[in-house]
Amino acid sequence: MKNVLVVKGHFIFTPTPDAYAVYENSCLVSVDGKIAGIYPSIPEKFKGCPVHDYGNRLVIPGFVDLHLHAAQFLQCGMGMTSKLLDWLGDYTFDLEREFQNRAFAREAYTCFAEKLVACGTLRACIFASSSTAGTQELFEVLKEKGIGAYVGKVNMDRNAPDFIIETTKASLMGTKYLIEKYQDEKRVKPIITPRFAPTSTEELLKGLGALAVKYHLPVQSHLSENLDEILWVRELFKGAENYSDVYFKNNLFGQTKTVMAHGIFLGEAERELVKKMDLMLAHCPDSNLNVRSGIMPVRTYLDMGLKIGLGSDIAGGHKIGLNEAMVRAIQLSKLLNLSNGKLKPLTVSEAFYMGTKSGGSFFGKTGSFEKDFWFDALVLEDDSMIAGRYSLEDRLEKFIYTGDDRNICARYVEGEKL
Ligand code: GUN
Ligand code: FE
Repeated sequence: MKNVLVVKGHFIFTPTPDAYAVYENSCLVSVDGKIAGIYPSIPEKFKGCPVHDYGNRLVIPGFVDLHLHAAQFLQCGMGMTSKLLDWLGDYTFDLEREFQNRAFAREAYTCFAEKLVACGTLRACIFASSSTAGTQELFEVLKEKGIGAYVGKVNMDRNAPDFIIETTKASLMGTKYLIEKYQDEKRVKPIITPRFAPTSTEELLKGLGALAVKYHLPVQSHLSENLDEILWVRELFKGAENYSDVYFKNNLFGQTKTVMAHGIFLGEAERELVKKMDLMLAHCPDSNLNVRSGIMPVRTYLDMGLKIGLGSDIAGGHKIGLNEAMVRAIQLSKLLNLSNGKLKPLTVSEAFYMGTKSGGSFFGKTGSFEKDFWFDALVLEDDSMIAGRYSLEDRLEKFIYTGDDRNICARYVEGEKL
């Protein structure tokens, strides 16, 4: 017997970046978690199935956050005057150290997961900390929440305080342990996670690339975020052609599905490699401003055909709701446009697409309400004076700019109400 659910409401989503698809007062049918179609009324063969009727509310795809650090959630909004490398040393490593304590990890990750889900993120690529036991807690907490996630133990074997790095061997063994424990999970799965090139020896990168290939696992890391970082990588990896090449040579750059955060300062050859290896870039605009990294040339990358999703980059970014990243991505693209009129600012639908369907493609078919996509959705509750006056597109834009967890009244993952 198939598990059928009919959801009634106004559906709005972005099959393509340039425009919304809008289905007013319609019925979406989910069969075993996948979308069968959207209809003007309930089709005959689905009559009698359970109906969740949301009346005048908007139903949109769940948010997909392609880059954030669960172990930094408590420090959101702190240290926001430092630049990246100082901020890591002055704030971040001290907090991440605490996750070696399992009880602390469980409590802090529970706070994190509750807020993440409340704010509408239903799929995410998440960095934990370097602690294997702590990372196990994050897997368990997220499994209970029901969302989809890739979770990575953070690998570091040099250039960070002793209290947070591991030996190369311990880092690889801990990673392997978590892979074997969680690789067959339904929704919360492991991802290979070197923190970034500077805190990795070549041996560690090689070992991680081998694990990615052997177990067919995705990869996430940071790439070309900050100019000092890039110089540092050049010093540390003298044999590499550029930053991307450090990962590429070690099977960590598209040999398996890969998402790299930032990629702000990529040279021509690196951009081409990103494209050729079909990488996903996670644009994290709040973080790029907060730790003063730079502005991703997002229009230039999109015009080249690069795949770009959005990340909150908690806690380089200060807000966990992905609509914040949509807004900031648009605002930064307007700044670039002011200095170069040829660079068209992002439209709202483009930013929405990046935070839903584009990022969602990293997880398979999610982030849109097209046929055969998972029914991963948020139901939005807006003010009745707004709902009565404005178009569905305007109401969505207002939610993106001003909404938060208080405006989300239901969440679905694979057709199941959370
Ligand atoms: N690069 C290396 N580690 C980090 C981190 O924790 N946050 C950000 N934004 N960049 C990094
Ligand atoms: Fe990050």
